[in-house]
Amino acid sequence: MKIAILPGDGIGPEVTRQAVKILDVLAAEGLRFEREEALIGGCAYEATGHPLPDATLALARRADAILFGAEGGFQYETLPRGLRPGDALLAVRKQLDLYANYRPIVTFDALLDASPFKREWVQGLDILLIRELTSDLYFGEPRGIEMRDGLRVGTNTMYYDEREIARVAHTAFQTARRRHHKLCSVDKANVLEAMELWRTVVDEVAVGYPDVQLTHLYVDAAAMALVRDPRQFDVIVTGNLFGDILSDEASMLTGSLGMLPSASINAQGKGLFEPVHGCAPDIANQDIANPLASILSAAMMLRQGLNQPGAADRVEAAVRKVLADGLRTRDIAQPGTEIVGTEAMGDAVAAALRANAQ
Ligand code: NAD
Ligand code: IPM
Ligand code: MN
Repeated sequence: MKIAILPGDGIGPEVTRQAVKILDVLAAEGLRFEREEALIGGCAYEATGHPLPDATLALARRADAILFGAEGGFQYETLPRGLRPGDALLAVRKQLDLYANYRPIVTFDALLDASPFKREWVQGLDILLIRELTSDLYFGEPRGIEMRDGLRVGTNTMYYDEREIARVAHTAFQTARRRHHKLCSVDKANVLEAMELWRTVVDEVAVGYPDVQLTHLYVDAAAMALVRDPRQFDVIVTGNLFGDILSDEASMLTGSLGMLPSASINAQGKGLFEPVHGCAPDIANQDIANPLASILSAAMMLRQGLNQPGAADRVEAAVRKVLADGLRTRDIAQPGTEIVGTEAMGDAVAAALRANAQ
């Protein structure tokens, strides 16, 4: 098994290093894999003039799974489109056709008081948000900024074809079948034609899954429902833009954006695994970032990318253990808990994993 490690920028390298520590514990126990690291994002641009060097894309294609950190940085935001760090991640998602982005929103009992929401509303929360990742406003044409009649005009196109909608809908229905048989599709069909088609196609796909209870919500109402009564949701399926926004919102139900992992999977089952958060330039290189989203992304990689469900369960149990022991990074700290840095949190999870050896 070959794992591509793409740490990226900002807190990407520091949190990815903690996930790699965890993989190394498993390697020392005998799990066999090879890992190879490559540059992506702003650091790749600095080194090679392009945020996605050919060698990085080739490695991503060759690898059985990809562990990605984060990329970005405000210093790159005036670069031409195509050369910005975020463009590299979007290109990998598109080139590898990683259309199904799984973003689990799960609360840990030890962290219930770290959430700004009342504990009785978030206890036992277990939502799986599935975000379509290769289409929508992110990739639709035409796009651009141009002069029209003496005015600057910015254009993007919300685009979905029926094949793109149907495949992510099938993924979502099949996922709901393995869970509580409830699926909520989120769109804006009342206003946008692309979303009207979304709803129509989701309804057509639903005919093949009569055992799954399907509901529809408009995205504005879904944003409200997520914080009013989040436990009504089992699986949510939505488009690329709405999924981006709703997942950052939903992260706060768990206590922090620094807790949310994700998996982006293509039709062949190949995946890229990454925290939902970005490169957090405001806290980079200070040893304060929460590495648990990255460690939990590695667990998703073990389960969904490398077919090692037992190892994935153990990594998640190790995370639960250090949280139960009262260790916290700053973003999830509560009175009476011990604040530790990024490295110390990674070391603690690694130690808990080692202590619970197979
Ligand atoms: P962000 O996710 O980087 O940060 C948002 C807030 O959450 C910040 O206050 C940050 O300190 C905090 N935060 C994020 N991760 C954390 C962690 N692990 N532990 C503790 N706190 C954490 O989003 P932003 O500030 O809007 O964007 C910063 C840069 O990252 C931009 O260049 C953006 O384009 C990029 N970005 C990249 C990705 C990605 O690589 N997948 C995702 C989102 C944003
Ligand atoms: C995410 C990020 C990315 C997105 C950016 C960095 C392109 O916010 O993965 O959630 O918008 O998809
Ligand atoms: Mn995002």
